Amino acid sequence: TAYSAAATLAAYLIGSLSFAVIVSRLMGLNDPRTYGSGNPGATNVLRSGNKKAAILTLVFDALKGFVPVLLVKLFGERFGLGEGTLALVGLAAFLGHLWPVFFKFEGGKGVATAAGVLLGIEPLLGLATLGTWIIIAFFFRYSSLAAIVAAIFAPFYQLLIWGGGPVAGAVLVMGLLLIWRHSANIQKLIKGTESKIGQKAAPPA
Ligand code: G3P
Repeated sequence: TAYSAAATLAAYLIGSLSFAVIVSRLMGLNDPRTYGSGNPGATNVLRSGNKKAAILTLVFDALKGFVPVLLVKLFGERFGLGEGTLALVGLAAFLGHLWPVFFKFEGGKGVATAAGVLLGIEPLLGLATLGTWIIIAFFFRYSSLAAIVAAIFAPFYQLLIWGGGPVAGAVLVMGLLLIWRHSANIQKLIKGTESKIGQKAAPPA
């Protein structure tokens, strides 16, 4: 329907707001694409040494996945929007983060946004996935490894907590794309050169 298409487009545009870049710009910090991993995400913003900027990035990148999904969940029925649209809207916000129309399609890896989407779909699903991230991050101290493991578990949590259908498809696609976006991190983890959470980056030249 037209409503479904409009909601999906809106979610993509919101997802395209790269908060790592926006927050850094507003706070007068270096562009996160110029230091550390070069990734516009909360983990890399933390490498600037500015915790506040990293937390703001995390929260806003998560909200841009959470809010569109929650809106469809709460008000979708009035516009004839069902599970198919819920899946499309969540996926669109995530894709916006990976390929943002406002930032030359050079986006991030989707961890915070995917977390927001999952929390919006079903709080328990989001919390189980977040819990997985926290456990791995706590023991191993690699943000990327925590995200990869959480992405592997998320589709199983989805099936257990919610069941199949279009939303399960979206969760699976997000997980696969998220892992693929971490290719460079996987290489570094294997080589032992991946940086641990909070380890500062050399400032840009
Ligand atoms: O937030 C993405 C995280 O999993 C990895 O980020 O900067 O270490 O490549 P980064």
